[in-house]
Amino acid sequence: MALLETKGLSKSFGGVQALQDVDVHIEEGSIHGLIGPNGSGKSTFFNVISGVYRPDSGSSVLFDNHEISQLPPHKITELGISRTFQLLRLFLEMTVLENVMVGYHCHTPYGFLSPILQGSKVREADEKIQDEMIEMLQFLGLASYANLPAGELSGGQRRLLSLGRAIAMKPKLLLLDEPGAGLSPVNVDHLMHTILSLKEKYKLTVVVVEHILKVVMNTCERITVLDHGQKIAEGSPEEVKNDHAVIEAYLGREMADEDIRQVIRA
Ligand SMILES: Nc1ncnc2c1ncn2[C@@H]1O[C@H](COP(=O)(O)OP(=O)(O)O)[C@@H](O)[C@H]1O
Ligand SMILES: [Mg+2]
Repeated sequence: MALLETKGLSKSFGGVQALQDVDVHIEEGSIHGLIGPNGSGKSTFFNVISGVYRPDSGSSVLFDNHEISQLPPHKITELGISRTFQLLRLFLEMTVLENVMVGYHCHTPYGFLSPILQGSKVREADEKIQDEMIEMLQFLGLASYANLPAGELSGGQRRLLSLGRAIAMKPKLLLLDEPGAGLSPVNVDHLMHTILSLKEKYKLTVVVVEHILKVVMNTCERITVLDHGQKIAEGSPEEVKNDHAVIEAYLGREMADEDIRQVIRA
């Protein structure tokens, strides 16, 4: 069953057609890769799905049996889509634990300041949630930093924390935009394995944009390839790797990225 299905999804910015008639089908419970050269529309895809931008008229985005293409971001979050950003947007002066608590409170009816306003019942509930959040931090290997300011974490740990905050929102669908940006290939590989175990533990469906193709090929069940805002291929890693249009899109542009060449020639 599809958890997310787009039909004729388009988005233009003035003269730039960032997405053009994109049909994507994301199977519930899967990990789905989204790849394509720089500027091909990957981040725009996330931005229209999560409601940051409204898609052009005629676009349809069906999520969990709801048409969401005209909804504002907070409604889409409530329905169960959460995301990470290419730039992390953590609260660096707040503690690691507080950063994930903010994520959690985005999805409760109480809101972030309510423990002060509503007294002991909410405080009790809050303690239970804190335990839950600490368990998640343990899973991410961040529990021993729970009470440190997020600003003291390394780059890799900040990536994990932003992942934790997105998961704290209890989504059904998690959109990850270059979760491994700035990490070495080995660390990205490690991060993807963490993401795979999180997907199992929290019963998530995941869509991930990642430019290290080898990593995408190793972890994703299906892959969609964008080029100039259009879908040029979709299928299993094996199918995508051997697709002529995909090879053209990457190699035709003489990208220097040795990783891409290795994957395509493998
Ligand atoms: N807010 C915006 N305003 C104008 N143009 C944009 C905006 N966001 C994206 N674009 C353009 O849309 C195209 C796709 O961008 P993007 O989705 O960021 O690509 P990717 O994430 O694949 O690198 C690019 O040409 C980019 O310049
Ligand atoms: Mg991008």
